[in-house]
Amino acid sequence: MLRFLTSGESHGQALIAILDGIPAGMPLDVARVDEELRRRQQGYGRGARQKIESDRVEIVGGVRHGITSGAPIGLLIKNKDWDNWRFVMSAEPIDEQADEAAAQLARKAIERFRPGHADLAGTLKFRQRDIRDVLERASARETAARVAVGAVCQQLLGQFGIKLAAHVVQVGTVRADADLKAVDLDELDRAVAASEMFCADRAAEEQMKELVKRTWQEGDSLGGVVEVLAEGLPVGLGSYTQWDRRLDGQLGQALMSVQAMKAVEIGDGVDSAGRTGSAVHDPIMPAGPTSTALPFTRPTNHAGGIEGGMTNGERLRVRAYMKPIPTLRNGLPSVSFPGFQAGTAHFERSDVCAISAASVVCKAMVAFVLARALVDKFGGDTIADMKASYDRYLEHCRHPGGQE
Ligand SMILES: Cc1cc2nc3c(=O)[nH]c(=O)nc-3n(C[C@H](O)[C@H](O)[C@H](O)COP(=O)(O)O)c2cc1C
Repeated sequence: MLRFLTSGESHGQALIAILDGIPAGMPLDVARVDEELRRRQQGYGRGARQKIESDRVEIVGGVRHGITSGAPIGLLIKNKDWDNWRFVMSAEPIDEQADEAAAQLARKAIERFRPGHADLAGTLKFRQRDIRDVLERASARETAARVAVGAVCQQLLGQFGIKLAAHVVQVGTVRADADLKAVDLDELDRAVAASEMFCADRAAEEQMKELVKRTWQEGDSLGGVVEVLAEGLPVGLGSYTQWDRRLDGQLGQALMSVQAMKAVEIGDGVDSAGRTGSAVHDPIMPAGPTSTALPFTRPTNHAGGIEGGMTNGERLRVRAYMKPIPTLRNGLPSVSFPGFQAGTAHFERSDVCAISAASVVCKAMVAFVLARALVDKFGGDTIADMKASYDRYLEHCRHPGGQE
């Protein structure tokens, strides 16, 4: 079973993730993990923090001489700004007598809730006095650890010829032309890497940037929509046999767990609710006698690559919908804590629009869910075991009647 946990605060010393269940014998390219971390820090509309972060991963377990050992993989990402926060975020009690200046910094509490954040419920739930005790962990800074995990998972998927790409398809009201049925995912990824907004539609990108700039000037914020695509998936990842084994359900949970994501759509999900069945369901046709791949084809893919909670061999297409960033320069009405006096929300340096970064995080979460499903179906202690099982299964799918 593939699983991970993260720990660490936004302005703490570091973020850590432990990824357990990656089989032994997989080459791990750390530079590719750093590349995903770098991408998460990019994107038009990000706050000043991204300029100081420059994240890098250190592998502290589970890999030796570039090859996974089968042990849990420990991923460490140091917070570059730690020196400026070592008193505020110190794990040790501050000696008030010895260092009055440090004690003053440490005592300075955040006292006004930010609507749209975990501040209000988290402070009451954990009986905190300083809202910082909530916001530090609730912050999307945590997603750096998820991106590192996802980058390792992408390398596992790559061993089986599975590729992923993510792109921004909407910012505020501006929608990209995102009809990419025939576009190769490497090509899409190159277009995304060359775009400040991570959007493959250049005309839409300019309008998106204009909108972000105008919204920033107005002291407001924006959300948007990202699409994650995956191809090369075998038929049958996930299962229909139990509710929690359905892959669509798992993708929904993983994507909704990303800070600020408020809806998830698979394939034409939203539009299909208003269409008739004949316009939604994808016909199944024989592939013809010369086919070396699967013995059937699908002329359309409205389903987005999942039927009955399982991959069906088509390209996976899933979208996540992000609400506007909740920290606003023009603070929203809120109350103080613990006095509950009327005022405006606390403001701390913030993004105006983080949809580009969110696309990297969503890709990481999809990579994790797919890698977990792959390990569930073909898992063994080593990559070689996994590949042998995978090859046998592929052969079965090509000739399910047993004929060669
Ligand atoms: C990549 C990324 C960056 C984010 N940056 C910010 C930010 O700078 N300021 C902010 O207020 N919220 C930001 N958010 C959103 C908040 O973390 C999120 O809205 C908040 O934790 C409350 O969670 P919820 O929206 O899921 O209820 C970001 C989210 C993501 C995915």
